[in-house]
Amino acid sequence: MPRFPAAIESRLPDVGTTIFTVMSRLAAEHGAINLSQGFPDFSPPAALVDRVTHHMRAGANQYPPMAGAMPLREALAAKMAALYGTQYDPEHEITVTAGGTQALYTAVACMVRPGDEVIVFQPVYDSYIPAIELNGGKAVVATLQYPDYRPDWVAVRKLVTPRTRLIMLNTPHNPSGSVWTAEDMAQLADIVRDTRIAIVSDEVYEHMVYDGARHESCARHPELASRSFVCSSFGKTVHATGWKVGHVAAPRELMAEFRKAHQFTVFTVNTPVQLALADWMQDPSGYLELADFYQRKRDFFRDALAASRLQLLPCRGTYFQLASYAAISDEDDATLARRWTQEVGVASIPVSAFYTDPAQGQHKVLRFCFAKNEDTLARACEKLVRL
Ligand SMILES: Cc1ncc(COP(=O)(O)O)c(C=O)c1O
Repeated sequence: MPRFPAAIESRLPDVGTTIFTVMSRLAAEHGAINLSQGFPDFSPPAALVDRVTHHMRAGANQYPPMAGAMPLREALAAKMAALYGTQYDPEHEITVTAGGTQALYTAVACMVRPGDEVIVFQPVYDSYIPAIELNGGKAVVATLQYPDYRPDWVAVRKLVTPRTRLIMLNTPHNPSGSVWTAEDMAQLADIVRDTRIAIVSDEVYEHMVYDGARHESCARHPELASRSFVCSSFGKTVHATGWKVGHVAAPRELMAEFRKAHQFTVFTVNTPVQLALADWMQDPSGYLELADFYQRKRDFFRDALAASRLQLLPCRGTYFQLASYAAISDEDDATLARRWTQEVGVASIPVSAFYTDPAQGQHKVLRFCFAKNEDTLARACEKLVRL
């Protein structure tokens, strides 16, 4: 293949291959148990897969409406009203997206102008800052304090300037497993009150909150709901990260802007999966029982590691467990994660990868994904307790 004949001034000069791809590749090369990337090693509900096939065979294979199949938007509106008490209009206030990633990206793209500032919290999910920078914005980073990963609201308030356009948050939080409280939401509302700041709330783990706590959605808080893009993903909820279907809810004025960008990026999302998800949502137990399902996995994983020298941090939500290896090794987390993948046979993610400056996030902590069959978790733990 001939080479491109000019120098490319990269729009994202600092972006390389993501740590998730690197670790998954390394795990495959070395036959390691892959607890790195966040995806289940079990299947979506069989009845849901049957509904996808049903809709394909029934001929639902052409474009759905730009904003998503109406039965799915209606089901999402009903769920959000029942769980969070806010009534979104499916016609104007809910859009189905190609996964959570596209929901987040498009929310940023439709709001951020060159020079605008966007406050993000680190450890930060890897798509946020590139999305901001591709749209000419500047990421302004607040740090969630180790080991609790709680927001420091005094510090956040100081980061707000007249150029702040968005605040992006993630609860339940990847990678830390922390969840924001009603008090956090009240603090956030206080900071944005009387400003033009909008909020992009990444709630892809909304149905994975443990120990009887409740998910504090921005949709639950009327003041925040009035300025938020509430983003989520079926990938996490139905054990089908590869289907790439997500959704966003926002007040009509924000959603009108979102759809202008959405229609020229993906336009819409595949029809049969949307219709199948709408059918599946008719029985709320599918998503309401997810927290118990994953809490059992969390407890299984933690119990199996109790005899190890890893120190387990609290996990209040998501399907990630953080563990400090400070009692085992002095190596930095990226070196150790690679070595354990090769030599121990268990792949994890170094948490420093979620920091703009990995040296700042060097707390000797690894992230393990427990969205796996118990057999997979047991085999991994057997190896980890020997260390
Ligand atoms: C915090 C967070 N946001 C967004 C996403 C992306 O969701 P999706 O796979 O639906 O694009 C993920 C996936 O891992 C995530 O962990």
